[in-house]
Amino acid sequence: MLKVLFIASECDPFAKTGGLGDVVGSLPLALRKMRIDARVIIPKYGNIPAEYKKEMIHKKTLTIPVGWRNQYGGLEILDVMDRDGVPYYFLDNETYFKRDGLYGYYDEAERFSYFCRGVLECIPYMDFEPQILHCNDWQTGLVPLFLKEFYKDKPLYEKMKTVFTIHNLKYQGIFPMEVLNDVLGLDQAYSGYEGIEFNSNVNFMKAGIVSSDMVTTVSKTYSQEIKLPYYGENLDGLLRKYEDKLQGIVNGIDYNKYNPETDPHIYVNYRSSITKKEQNKAKLQEDLGFPIENVPVVAMVSRLTSQKGLDIFVHILEELLSLDLQLVILGTGDYKYEQILRNAAERHPQKMRALIMFNEDLACKIYASSDLYLMPSLFEPCGLSQLIALRYGSLPVVRETGGLQDTVTSYNEKTGEGNGFSFTNFNAHDFLHTIKRALSIYNDHKSVWNKIVKNALKSNFNWIGSAKKYQQLYETLLSDQADERDSSPSKILRIG
Ligand code: GLC
Repeated sequence: MLKVLFIASECDPFAKTGGLGDVVGSLPLALRKMRIDARVIIPKYGNIPAEYKKEMIHKKTLTIPVGWRNQYGGLEILDVMDRDGVPYYFLDNETYFKRDGLYGYYDEAERFSYFCRGVLECIPYMDFEPQILHCNDWQTGLVPLFLKEFYKDKPLYEKMKTVFTIHNLKYQGIFPMEVLNDVLGLDQAYSGYEGIEFNSNVNFMKAGIVSSDMVTTVSKTYSQEIKLPYYGENLDGLLRKYEDKLQGIVNGIDYNKYNPETDPHIYVNYRSSITKKEQNKAKLQEDLGFPIENVPVVAMVSRLTSQKGLDIFVHILEELLSLDLQLVILGTGDYKYEQILRNAAERHPQKMRALIMFNEDLACKIYASSDLYLMPSLFEPCGLSQLIALRYGSLPVVRETGGLQDTVTSYNEKTGEGNGFSFTNFNAHDFLHTIKRALSIYNDHKSVWNKIVKNALKSNFNWIGSAKKYQQLYETLLSDQADERDSSPSKILRIG
């Protein structure tokens, strides 16, 4: 059986700040259904809910090298049978991880360098010999580098292969060169080594890209985009250089968790009934204190940051509010956007709510009750909320970038195809125009609208298809290894 260890800084339901946590919480489940022994390791953060912490079993006390120091490491395990039996491992060190939240501390380089080294130290005590180490985002970028540098000549590690998945190239883990020796324990000779040096700093994401056997990102389009300066976050040259090992595999979502037929959070469960969806809408309008009328409800559930296209959104906000609709926004983020949205909502109490909070229950209600879902991202490696919106029959309006381009097809009048609406350029009025196009169909061509809703409900982005692609990738990596073994004797023969 194929054995894969997922290494990440987030995993739902233990610790999550965004899409990374959702993916690490759901992809291993899908892989296990395909008879792959997928397991997960994350840091044991202080904020992990107590119900899980009390079930964890201490497996081993270790000493983890951090530069010239040795630090405590505790390997803990949680076997959650009701989650299809994924074994979850946690690396415990209270000094590094028993803090509020997950990120944003002065010693991030040390915390995550410790984590990467610690994971590799823990492997002999897991009762599990992974063939693939599947690393995710910069926090785990040092795993492939440390594997090569410190472990490759040990029999247990010799044949291990590494996959590094980029969920968001914008966050790279860049630190001063001083950490190289003091924290990472790498020789000064490495300061010029392409594996980690970046503009005279240390870059964890670069280390992951250069040192891993295969690099993936979370949609095909994003895997192409990041090779261009506009999306490349200064690593486009490097990604072009390594393009042969770069692949895009689109994310899925957990279709059991996000299922309008069974979701306990929503008002009325439904599969494809437009009437029942309208009943949800009326309830939401009531809860939000909106007039209960037949106007389109337009929604956004998002981190309020520039990545998510908030700049073009706030630019057209007043014009949008002059139209016949109700607007609900749920999310937190940059203060400037929060303030603009709060102010607008105060000025338009009959038309707009700005719910500046993170609330999964409300999020599900909004997906189920809204007609139109806005996602005008500046860039979007994959995006999960447009997939949830499709699943609940709320039609996405997206900018054609990254995973949005790969999952939303703009409605085409001629063919009748499409599950939403999209626009190409990051331009506020192109966005507004696209919303107006959608609203005119909603208002004047209800049967067409209902057809697009049906198309959305039929779109399929569960994990099965993508999990198969990961399986193929793992198998290819391992068969390359077999090829290497097969070819070595013949080389010797030829030399002989
Ligand atoms: C990041 C990206 C998002 C992606 C998620 C999971 O949060 O910004 O686009 O869906 O990771 O891969």
